[in-house]
Amino acid sequence: MRILVINGPNLNMLGNRNKVIYGSKTLPEIETTMKNLGKRLGADVITFQSNSEGELINFIQSSIARMDGLIINPGALSHYGLALRDALSEIGVPVIEVHLSNIYAREDWRAKSVIAPVAKGQIAGLGWRGYLAALQVLISELKGDNWE
Ligand code: DQA
Repeated sequence: MRILVINGPNLNMLGNRNKVIYGSKTLPEIETTMKNLGKRLGADVITFQSNSEGELINFIQSSIARMDGLIINPGALSHYGLALRDALSEIGVPVIEVHLSNIYAREDWRAKSVIAPVAKGQIAGLGWRGYLAALQVLISELKGDNWE
């Protein structure tokens, strides 16, 4: 099983960026944690970050045929990235949207995600652990676990 983890604009700056809001872990640290958890749960985690919407779309389109699910933190593209939303609506694998911060407790313009309607679900406000929660849920669902 392969899970693609996509991070959008400015998430390459995690660790330096407003640590009160986004925490102090760097993106490579979060990605390594996800790869380790994925390995334990039986999934390969493939990661990609770009500050460009076009590059994100190109990567998703060129790799999705080999993926079983996708986790994405679209950064600010969450709020206006309609081309990214259109791309995600066509990929045919489950998408989970993740935000480190609680986008509903910040500026009004952050409270709307144009990605959310094409995602299976969303996790916001749980910091880096939100990525791990998304990974666990996605793998569990793809495996068909029912915890009985
Ligand atoms: C973010 C929230 C967005 O509003 C912001 O533009 C980001 C990060 C988050 O993870 O909390 O870049 O997606």
